[in-house]
This record gives sequence, structure tokens and C-alpha cells, in this order.
Amino acid sequence: MCGIIGYTGPAAVKNILLEGLAQLEYRGYDSAGIAIAKDDGSIYIEKQTGQVANLKAICDQADDDGHCGIGHTRWATHGGVTRPNTHPHQVGRVTLIHNGIIENYHEIIEKFDLKDQLVSETDTEVAAALLNHFYDGDPEEAIRKAVQELEGSFAFCILFEGFTDRIFCIRNVSPLVASSTPEGSLVASDITAVIKYSKQYFVVPEYHLMVLYQDHIDLFDENGVKAEPEILEVNWDVESAQKMGFPHYMLKEIHEQPEAIIKTITPRLKNGLPCFEGEGIDDEFFKNFTNINVVACGTAMYAGMVGKAIIEPIVKVPVSVNIASEFRYSTPLIDKHTLTIVVSQSGETIDTLAALRLAKSCGSRVLAIVNVKGSSIARESDYVLYTHAGPEIAVASTKAYSVQLSVFYLLACKCALVRGIFDETKGREFIDNLYKCIDAISGVLEHKEIIEKAVEHLKDAEHAYYIGRGLDYAFSMEGALKLKEVSYVHAEAYAAGELKHGTIALIEEGIPVVAFATQDAVYNKTISNIREVKARNAYVILITKEDAEIPEGVCDLHLTVPIKDDLFTGLPTVVILQLIAYYTSIARGLNVDKPRNLAKSVTVE
Ligand code: F6R
Repeated sequence: MCGIIGYTGPAAVKNILLEGLAQLEYRGYDSAGIAIAKDDGSIYIEKQTGQVANLKAICDQADDDGHCGIGHTRWATHGGVTRPNTHPHQVGRVTLIHNGIIENYHEIIEKFDLKDQLVSETDTEVAAALLNHFYDGDPEEAIRKAVQELEGSFAFCILFEGFTDRIFCIRNVSPLVASSTPEGSLVASDITAVIKYSKQYFVVPEYHLMVLYQDHIDLFDENGVKAEPEILEVNWDVESAQKMGFPHYMLKEIHEQPEAIIKTITPRLKNGLPCFEGEGIDDEFFKNFTNINVVACGTAMYAGMVGKAIIEPIVKVPVSVNIASEFRYSTPLIDKHTLTIVVSQSGETIDTLAALRLAKSCGSRVLAIVNVKGSSIARESDYVLYTHAGPEIAVASTKAYSVQLSVFYLLACKCALVRGIFDETKGREFIDNLYKCIDAISGVLEHKEIIEKAVEHLKDAEHAYYIGRGLDYAFSMEGALKLKEVSYVHAEAYAAGELKHGTIALIEEGIPVVAFATQDAVYNKTISNIREVKARNAYVILITKEDAEIPEGVCDLHLTVPIKDDLFTGLPTVVILQLIAYYTSIARGLNVDKPRNLAKSVTVE
């Protein structure tokens, strides 16, 4: 939610900010703006609604004067998508950008009588006015005083009049990373905007005051004592965050799945069996819990649904899957015998982070499945299993989901081994099956034509239904979400047997129903449910295993996944669903990488 970039150094800052904003645009694209401290000490501010390209178009005419500046791409929360609401906000001698939400901004306006200074509807401008109120020539003092008043989440980058060669930063919850490089100092919401300049960076610790100078960065803890940052290194390069010849990031990331899965599972195998010793997790850990509590949001939560469908029947421990935004305000029935698994691509989703903290406070141990190294969720969890998907830039999650599933497979296998449910032979067979999924995904990617046929029917639809039983139901949830978010076709997932309890009333002639029947144990039951919608003239797109015998007239289009074992049909099936969503979006002429109203990395409640 919102992208932040700041630079001070020997180079002209304007293009560094604009390029950085383009890299961060997936975090929000309602409007964008920059503030540059000119060499004469004045501050040049430019902002524009819409995407960063709009801002760039007007900034191109401006000269390159200025070596210190801040930039912001907005995902609107407080106040509409207007130019006045666009960051940076300037009040008096303070110019700032902000990611997060100041929850008590109304109270602050009243308490400090700031109303007359405000021209926007944003909470951010109130923070700028508050800083200006406290600023008497000492930026650090002003920040410390202001932060004591603020409730909520924030990552601020601030320019103070009189100190226009440096950037002052502070954060609570909302992410901020920084890097000191020979070409200057950088701060950003995430590493994608920094990697062009350095692979080394650090996560700004919460409530630490950071000052970026041209040639170094100073960091001070809450007591004003100088702190040493913990330097991290990214294990991917600048090309990973580019399209590499694909028309869109989403398509590129769909194609990256085989490699991402290999990178995620291979380093965690020892003698062909899962081993998490590298992550500091010994076998004992997997023996002791009595139940599992998965908490996540959106696609990551749907990965958890698949995790439940894999782990429960094998390991025979109850798995509950919870929506983090609900869980965080609930009274969970968990304790030290519960293993909480939090799942997050970004590692910054605020609801998931809050859920993690609640689980810990109940005594539960927390294991995180996270993609972004050093992220808040990774840092606060007891144990972390990083997924190695590389940067996911398209707003719709694809490769992050499949690597999350792969980790659930590894966990299921590990638990079964340490609890004596699998012997080593069975364990190796399980891992072999997981590897077969990778080939199956490559097979799906090579035969996309049939998917385009499905799209022919979906592209003009207003509604679509995804149905399946068991594991198939778990995949269908993710399939429906993908279609909704990138193509704006209203799609719902239903347990196939549940349709007749209400939803079947919505089925009418031609309505697309994507039906999954990859599970032998419920195959005939699912086929009966499909017949029920077919009898009401739905257009049925059926997905089965290759060897399934399809009764006459049960579907209009038949797609298959080249997998034999029911437990492993998920990964290739999901790739089909992602491609269906992608091509439907393209056929409808939409911006598939940046669907409306969305942002990656949801750092607000
Ligand atoms: C959908 C999507 C979202 C995220 C959700 C959680 O394609 O990307 O539903 O899965 O916002 O985000 P993370 O995984 O970063 O916690």
C-alpha cells in the first residue's frame, strides 16, 4: 500500500525518483508525486493523479537540478484520488511522504488546532502539520515529539527546510528499507526500488530515527543512541524484477513457477527427504503440536486451505484456516500445543502481522511461510521458511501461491515422517510426486491454446462459478479470486455439493461454470453436481486428470492435468486457473498487472 522512495547523493535525483516509483507502482497507482530539494534550497513539488507515467510526462519538462528528494505512489485510503490528496504534502517548513494510516488524525487536528493549515482530506497532511508545529530548527526533536502523538502505522520520509541535503525517516509497522551505496543513500518501501544500486540493504527498525546523508546513513534507537543496521543481501538481481520479454509481469511470473518451486524445495531436501535444519527447525518441533492454525489473507489464505486439505488426511492433526483480519479480533482457542502457520508473500500484510502477534500472545509457536526476506512477519515469527519465488511484481499473486503450496507439501511430508506415518520410502515417493508437479506445470504452460478457448466464453460473462469437492474446492477458491481480481468478472467458488442449497438458483443458460473433478474419491459425486448445472444449461469447463473417463454431454470444454496422484493435482490445476484469469483480463482489454482498486502488500487494515 503506497510506495515510497528517497535519494540523496551526487547524482541528479529526479530520474532516480521516477524510476524508483515505476518499480514500486504495484504498491499503489492512484496518484504519484515527488519533492526535490533544489540546489538553491527551495523545494520543487510535482504531483499527478493516475499512474507514474502521468507524473513522468509532466516532470520530463523540469530541469534536473537537485540531488536530494522523495517520491510517493499512492493507494488512496483517506480522501479521494485527487491532486491535493497526492503526496508529498507540504505544511510550512516540512515536506513529507507517508505510507500507513494515522488513526488519531482527527484528535490531532483538534488538539493542535491544525485545521486552517490543511488543504487535503488526508491523514498524512495532518502529520506534516504536526511536524511543522514542533519544528523549531531541530528536525530530530520535531520527529520525536510528533511520533509520540501519533497512533497507527507510518513510514515517513521527510524534508525539513534548512536541511535540504538530507532525508529524515521513521516508521512504525509500515515497511521501509535503506541502503548506503557509493552512488548515494536510498530509502524505499521495498528492495525492488533499490536493487539497481545495491544488493545490500537493511530494514529500518521500528521507531528508529534514520537520517540519510549523501555519503552515509545514521540510525538512532528510541533513546537517541546510535544503532548499527543489520545488513541483508538480496539473492535475486535486477532482471528478476523486469518483464524479460513477456508482455506482462503476471504472465512472466506464471511461467516462472517451475523454477520457483525447484528453488523452494530443493535446498530443503536431504537424502531425498524434507529437512529444515538449515532453518534451525529440528524434528522434535514437528512431533509436538496437537493442532495447526493457519492464518493469512487472500491468496495466501487460499494456499492455507490447500495446506489443510493436504495435511489433515495425512498427518491426522486438525488444521483450522483463518482469515487474518477476522482472527486478529477474535478470541482464539489456541495455546502452546498449537502450531500457528502464517503465510504471506510480502511479509508485511498488516492483518497477518497482527494475527501473528495475537497467536504468540496465546503461547502458540509461529512458523512463517514468507517470500520477502527480512520482512516484518519473517522477523517476528519464531521460525521462517522463505519461499524462493523472487520478486512478485504483478498485483495478482501467482508464483507466490505455488511456492506456498510446495512448502505445505514439504511440511506434510516432514510431519508424517517424524510421527511415523511415512517411512523413508513413502517419504521419497511423496517428494517424487511433488517433483512431477513441476513437469506437469511445464506441460500446462506449453499447451495454452485450449485455455484460450475457455476464455472465449468467459470474456463476455458477468458471472462465473467455480465448483469442486475436497482439494478441488480449495483450488477453486483461488481460481475464482484470480478471475475476479484481474478480469472483473464476478466469480464465486462453491463446494460442488453445496450448490443445490441456494446458489444453483443463479445458474442460467450460458453461465460459465469451471468445474474441477480431479479427486477420485469424490469423482462420481462431483460429476453428478456438474450434471445438475449442465441440466440448467450452464457452460461447463471441466478440469480432470488425464486418464479420467468423462461421461457424454457433461461439459462443453474439457481440460486435463497430467498428474496421476490426487494429492498433487493442485499445482498444475492452479496454473490453468491463473492462465484463464490472465487471458480473460487481456481479452477484456484490462490492465492485468495493475487491476483497479488493488495494491500489492496490504499494509493498512
Ligand atoms: C491476490 C493477492 C492477495 C494477497 C493478499 C495477502 O492475488 O495477491 O490476495 O494474497 O493480499 O498478501 P501477502 O501474501 O503479501 O500477505
